[in-house]
Amino acid sequence: MDMKARGWGSLLSEKVLALLFEKPSLRHRTSFEVAMRQLGGHCIYLSPEEVGLGKRESAADVARVLSGYTNCIAARTFSHQTIVTLARYADIPVINALSDLEHPCQAMADLLTIYEKKGELEGLTLAFIGDGNNVAHSLLLAATLSGMNFRIASPRGYGINEDILNTAREYAAESGTEVFCTEEPRQAVTDADIVYTDVWTSMGQEAEVEKRRGAFDGFQVNGELLSLAREDAIFMHDLPAHRGEEVTDDVMDGERSVVFEQSENKMHLLKALLVEMIGGLEIPLPDYR
Ligand code: NVA
Repeated sequence: MDMKARGWGSLLSEKVLALLFEKPSLRHRTSFEVAMRQLGGHCIYLSPEEVGLGKRESAADVARVLSGYTNCIAARTFSHQTIVTLARYADIPVINALSDLEHPCQAMADLLTIYEKKGELEGLTLAFIGDGNNVAHSLLLAATLSGMNFRIASPRGYGINEDILNTAREYAAESGTEVFCTEEPRQAVTDADIVYTDVWTSMGQEAEVEKRRGAFDGFQVNGELLSLAREDAIFMHDLPAHRGEEVTDDVMDGERSVVFEQSENKMHLLKALLVEMIGGLEIPLPDYR
């Protein structure tokens, strides 16, 4: 929130961020570039064709090379292991800008949006409807670390990864919150403070699109489902949205929707993250609880 109020500055002057992306990106790429520019730094975007991560050159060698030129790597990859390898071999910080397993910057930006809208995090209930994917994983971990209850409704076979679920249950035990998994969207949404959804078919799963449309039938967030949430509930989506699949137009464009505030907050969150990681400034964590 402090970085959002601060606007432009020079905290990252003479700093260079490498954007190493294997997958498409509108919001993350633009957010990183604008965040660096607003703070006086620079970005270099490296497309999959140019780098050939793991094909033309190993991830370990790419990490060592970029450590000699830049101050930080933001990587968007298919395999989560590629980010782990980059982090292991780089001498500079590596940020996960989305992998098949997790999407942590999104989750942190989402907490900022929730905090702005609700004035607190502790005790709130977030209902995630849909695929137990990268977005759901990071939200689950972030929510349980922050004192929020997390419910997810997914079709059988599309739930949360077991290891992530176990970690989240440990966080929940510590913060005294609840994690609840169901196959019934109405059960998850009833009296929730936040209703969240994401695409049924993530990047890299395009071959499964028809199968997934069938499996997720009944998991659409529409006006009728949203009406079961609390009267002051907000609707969230990390975008891009497949309107007419996981969410209807009336919900996306309705007065409870905060989806475009979410996308703007990503840039503000990244500014804070970059300043903390490579700007030498310690951002005091707000006391969310
Ligand atoms: N689950 C989606 C998120 C996109 C930002 C995907 O991985 O494609």
